Formats: sequence, C-alpha cells, structure tokens
Amino acid sequence: MTDPAVTYASYLKIDELLTLQQPRSQGPEHDELLFIVIHQVYELWFKELLHEFDGVRQLLDDGKPHRAQHTLKRILTILKVMVAQLDILETMTPLEFLSFRERLEAASGFQSDQFRQIEFLLGVKSQAALRRFPEGSRASAALERRYQEPTVWDSFLRYLSKEGYAVPPPHLARDVVAAIEPSPELQRILVSVYKDDTKNAELCERLVDLDEGIQEWRYRHVKMVERTIGAKSGTGGSAGAAYLQQTVGRPLFPDLWQIRSQL
Ligand code: HEM
Repeated sequence: MTDPAVTYASYLKIDELLTLQQPRSQGPEHDELLFIVIHQVYELWFKELLHEFDGVRQLLDDGKPHRAQHTLKRILTILKVMVAQLDILETMTPLEFLSFRERLEAASGFQSDQFRQIEFLLGVKSQAALRRFPEGSRASAALERRYQEPTVWDSFLRYLSKEGYAVPPPHLARDVVAAIEPSPELQRILVSVYKDDTKNAELCERLVDLDEGIQEWRYRHVKMVERTIGAKSGTGGSAGAAYLQQTVGRPLFPDLWQIRSQL
C-alpha cells in the first residue's frame, strides 16, 4: 500500500497542534487561550533560535563569517517579532489576567528551559538554573549539555584568532562555564577590528544588535509584568518585577560595549 499523500494538515501535524491548548480555568475564562497560545508561540521561537544559534557557532568555527552574519540577521529578525508580540499580551488587563492567574499555581516563564538554554549559549550560565529542573528530564539533559558547551562568544573569539588576531591563549582556553568578563586585552583587539577591518566590524555590530535585542526583550517583559501584576511576587516564587529589573541592562558581551568610548 502506498503512503497517503502529504497534506498541509499531515505535514504540520495540525490536528495534534490544535489539541495542545488546554485552559485550566472554569468556563474557561476568555483570556486564558491567548495566554497559552502566546507562550506556546514563544517556545516555538525559542526552539528555532536555539537551532539558529547552533548554526552561527558552527559557521564561525568553520570560518564562514558572511553566512554567520546572515544567520544572525535572521535571529535578530525573530527577536524583533518576539519583542513585538508582547504588545498582544499587553491588551490583557490586570483584572483579565487575575481571572485565571491562580490556576497557573507555581508555573512561570521562570521554568522555561529553552529560555535558559538561550541564556547558557550566550554565556549567562548558572548551576541554580540547572538545578531547577528534575533530574533525568528532557529539560535537565538539554541544559546540562548547553552548560558544558562553548558559548557564541567563545566561537567568536576562536574565529578572530583564526582571522589572525592575537587573541591571548587564556581567552581561547577560557572556562566556558565562567561568566564573560570584560578584558582590556580583547578590547584593544576589537578597537583595531573596528578601525581597520570592515568585514569583522560588521560581525561585531550584529553581536551588539543581538545583545541589545535580548536586553530589549527583558525590558519590555518587565514593563509588561509591572503593568499586569504591579509589585506582586511571581507565580515562579521570585519577587516578580523587582527580580526581573535586576536582569535588565546587563550586557552579554561587555567588551563590545566598553570599546565604544575608545573609538
Ligand atoms: C501576563 C503576562 C506575564 C506575566 C505577568 C509574567 C510574569 C513573570 C514574572 C513575575 C517572572 C519572574 C519569575 C516568577 O517569579 O514567576 C517572569 C519570568 C519570566 N517570564 Fe514572564 N510573565 C508574563 C509573560 C511571559 C511571556 C509571554 C513569556 C514568554 C515566554 C515569559 C517568559 C518569562 C521568562 C523566560 C522568565 C524568566 C526571566 C528571567 O529569569 O530572567 N513571560 N515572568
């Protein structure tokens, strides 16, 4: 027997997809569907971003800066869409959210392992974040793997070294688990890239766009949180907006920001 012809619904698993939105409130409350859909859409974008970030690291390792930049451009475009999507959720008033909030119990974006994977890939790694996921789960295995992996910054430094820049060996052999700290030696190299090497200066600019894009998401998310729940604590158990505010404005790649005043 031949296989049935592929259709839109069979290829995209539409029937399965449409069963995955399951409100918990009685009624259910009108706005809970939006809340579920938007989070699911985010998780799909997170999945796509992780896929693209793996591509960027590989392209840098393979010495293909133009293709790496092209992929970064795609990542940045997705990030813009992700930031813009917050506008949709902001049409939900505090009272509309309260109509089903208690049904979320302790569930929170805090527990998004894919968001943590993106942070890990970009150098924001934490054992505490890892420990939040049950041992043996898909999430814990994925995060454990990302924890041990080099970050996008590590691939970038290795790429610069292959391009002939004298990146100091300790930076190339950096502990990939450690936080990305600013380095005057690297800044001297980056200043010369900006002044004399248009191709790689462009690549640096895309990394700054990425850094700014992530900060933009954090800023918009915390503003949305403030207007929706004020100073209440989060369902995930944090202080809520006060906790989130501490994460805003922290650069991923501090050297790329610090050199601006030296140019
Ligand atoms: C009404 C809408 C939302 C509210 C009130 C809200 C509230 C919060 C709060 C209070 C936190 C801090 C952790 C906690 O204690 O729960 C948090 C964290 C987080 N939320 Fe949201 N959130 C909303 C929508 C979203 C959406 C649509 C996403 C997209 C996936 C998202 C992703 C995250 C992530 C990734 C964190 C962890 C951030 C970090 O630790 O740096 N949130 N959220």
